[in-house]
Amino acid sequence: MAVQFSDAVKKTIEEVSEIAGYLWQKGWAERNAGNMSVCLNDLPSSCLPDDYQPFFISLPEIFPDVAGMCFYVTATNKRMRDLTRQPMKNALIIRITDDGAGYNIVSHFGKTDLRPTSELATHLEIHSMITRRRSSERVVIHTHPTELIALTQLSGLCDERVINKILWGMHPEAKVFIPAGIGLIPYILPGTTMIGKATADSLAEHEVALWEKHGVFATGRNPNETFDVIDILNKSASIYFLCRSTGQEPEGLTDSQIEELGKIKF
Ligand code: 13P
Ligand code: ZN
Repeated sequence: MAVQFSDAVKKTIEEVSEIAGYLWQKGWAERNAGNMSVCLNDLPSSCLPDDYQPFFISLPEIFPDVAGMCFYVTATNKRMRDLTRQPMKNALIIRITDDGAGYNIVSHFGKTDLRPTSELATHLEIHSMITRRRSSERVVIHTHPTELIALTQLSGLCDERVINKILWGMHPEAKVFIPAGIGLIPYILPGTTMIGKATADSLAEHEVALWEKHGVFATGRNPNETFDVIDILNKSASIYFLCRSTGQEPEGLTDSQIEELGKIKF
């Protein structure tokens, strides 16, 4: 007998796999680049046999805010282009233990070589922040959007204020849909709890966090909405570089035009 997932969980997994395909098509998911997690707690639980013995793995620190919660999380060292076709062969469902000190693999009956993304600490720090502030986001996406990363490689531009002015100035939708802007995280070794905490703090204030010379993290209520904010910001960065490739500096929207756009509500 296989683990039976509820229709709500199945629908979420389908949507994640659709987004994985977009990340690959966009060129933001070279090799195993990027990872995703979805909090499944508000969805009806999956059906496991009574005698099921989940497999336990400890976490690098205690995560009390997400204790007892279940997450769909992409597996480490797997390709987004494979995830889009086979979402459960390239991802896991985990349940954080009641003390927050570890997790059980609840998918695959625990019998799998798959392990969660190497960025699990950052995903859990972000889900912890969301839980603490009781907001409705449940999806976290990490990906490598080329033009957004390129902005952080230019020393004159690698500054949070400068990057937000560029991104909001290149396209009206950027301010409308990302009113709190992008938070810049100076380079920290990936996969660490230190970069996880810095990213969660930044995402408490911004819709998207940009890791210097690496990629972005974004949160949303569903996979499509989470993808959209990254897509809009990367479009702005692309317009910026396209303008500069002509040898001219783009004009950008004025501060008052950006402020006016910030008042639009969808
Ligand atoms: P994983 O394969 O461990 O998810 O790592 C991909 C990545 O983008 C690391 O930052
Ligand atoms: Zn990465």
